[in-house]
Amino acid sequence: MAKCYSEAASSRHGKASYLYRCGECTIRKTGVIGTNQHRRGGNLMDKHISKVHMQSVSSSYFYPWPMVMVSCVSPDGKPNIITIGASSVCSSAPPTIGIAVSPQRYSYRLIVETGDFGVNLPSPEQVEATDFCGTHSGRDMDKFAAAGLSVQPPALIRSPLIAECPVSLECRLREVVDLGSHHWVIGEMVAAHVDQRLLDAQGRFSPSAQHALFCFGGDYRRVGEQIALWFFTR
Ligand SMILES: Cc1cc2nc3c(=O)[nH]c(=O)nc-3n(C[C@H](O)[C@H](O)[C@H](O)COP(=O)(O)O)c2cc1C
Repeated sequence: MAKCYSEAASSRHGKASYLYRCGECTIRKTGVIGTNQHRRGGNLMDKHISKVHMQSVSSSYFYPWPMVMVSCVSPDGKPNIITIGASSVCSSAPPTIGIAVSPQRYSYRLIVETGDFGVNLPSPEQVEATDFCGTHSGRDMDKFAAAGLSVQPPALIRSPLIAECPVSLECRLREVVDLGSHHWVIGEMVAAHVDQRLLDAQGRFSPSAQHALFCFGGDYRRVGEQIALWFFTR
């Protein structure tokens, strides 16, 4: 990797501006010369890395994946759970959630036939149930019973929710996009159920990092330390 160095460039707004340079790029950052940050090379300096252009592409380069347990139900009322690693909020208004589901999954057919699904966020304590629901099929068993999970009745949809998960979101199917190995299954959130310990004194949702479970290229992880608040650079 190219070696970076810093040098004083100019003085603006009473602060000396220093310039970072290396063989491949130039990063400008304003700071006070002589401070520890300047001596260390600044924050940007730590992130200045040399990247390799990989020979192949793979979805595994995108990380981390928040783990969700998607609950669904068969037309004759048999509940099921599928573990999903590839999911995301798609829009805020209306709130929509996308999940990548292989059409080969038993759950895929259930979601498409029923037209709704539950998105349940497991906590690290449910890592065993999460893995179990991602390695066994509802074709062969009742995963609620086998994983020791309880059905929470939904308010507005047909799919049951998972009582033990701190957050359960009821979603109505909006759209399915065929993208190849997996289809992007988009649901509109129509109801939300939240563990009361995740509410602040005013009753507002206040997510706790210790409740979240992520996967990271083949293993399960908790969330790490908080490093900043949103909009702190405003
Ligand atoms: C950590 C993990 C993440 C997974 N992510 C996905 C995913 O994003 N999409 C998918 O279709 N299957 C995913 N799977 C696989 C399904 O959960 C698995 O095939 C499951 O047994 C299907 O259940 P079903 O046959 O009851 O539908 C994942 C499995 C694990 C363990």
